[in-house]
Amino acid sequence: MGGLTRDEEIVAALLEWGGGELRDLPWRRTRDPWAVLVSEVMLQQTSVARVLPKYGPFMEAFPTPHALAGAPLGGALLLWQGLGYPRRCRNLHAAAAAIVSGHGGTMPDTLEGMLSLPGVGQYTARAVLAFARAADVAVVDTNVSRVLSRLEGRAMRAAELQSRADGLVPRGSAWEWNQVMMDFGARHCTARSPQCGACPVAAHCEWQGNPEAADPAPASAGAGRPQPRFEGSDRQARGRAMRALGVGPRTRGELASAMCLEDDPVRAHALVDSLVSDRLVREEDGLVRLP
Ligand code: ADE
Repeated sequence: MGGLTRDEEIVAALLEWGGGELRDLPWRRTRDPWAVLVSEVMLQQTSVARVLPKYGPFMEAFPTPHALAGAPLGGALLLWQGLGYPRRCRNLHAAAAAIVSGHGGTMPDTLEGMLSLPGVGQYTARAVLAFARAADVAVVDTNVSRVLSRLEGRAMRAAELQSRADGLVPRGSAWEWNQVMMDFGARHCTARSPQCGACPVAAHCEWQGNPEAADPAPASAGAGRPQPRFEGSDRQARGRAMRALGVGPRTRGELASAMCLEDDPVRAHALVDSLVSDRLVREEDGLVRLP
């Protein structure tokens, strides 16, 4: 590869890896910015395996921002069940309303426009621009952050990661490049067992899985601390309550049972209060229901 810079060699090697390894996923077959937005919001905190069975039915029910904005939040939350973190669904519903009321039902096509939507941060805004608008921007998620930190051999803050990532994007190939980076981090340069022995960019990597040198990834911005324990968590209990409410309205007592918290009514009440204040449920006439 005579004459290539280090960055060009990294890009060429990873694109070649991606050519044989990129997974076929439903959100990779679309360039519709709404479909990409929905997939990226789902994928923010939920694994590909758990998103796969939920994505198709959600897109069928809500194929456009208009369709979601016109539906009750409760219907969307029903299809969200199993993905967790339902505030994301509420934000997506609010984003759909903002797209309809502020953008004539068409997705914004600039970074500022995307960032103005409820629940849309740097990651999601850039993912939509790169995956649906062919914009030459880098998407930095936990996987990309880990790959870049290891390549450079040091932890980096968010701003530096973003500019390092933007600098690597091969012009005109942002879609492919960003998908490859995510898959490479998710499947090759993994948090716990990176395959350094078969790595296409080992020659350019400062860390190379060196057991003598601490892994620089965990201290980098956004490089994901492990998910907190689910068993016994508030998140698990709230999920159980939401699932029961998907069947129909419930009293607080019934929700305490659904959450397996009959013996801890104080905690059960506090959890229902949190769902009410998060506007994920409504309470009237002694019954709790989806909004
Ligand atoms: N995680 C976040 N975005 C993704 C994508 N587009 N493909 C696979 N995993 C992802």
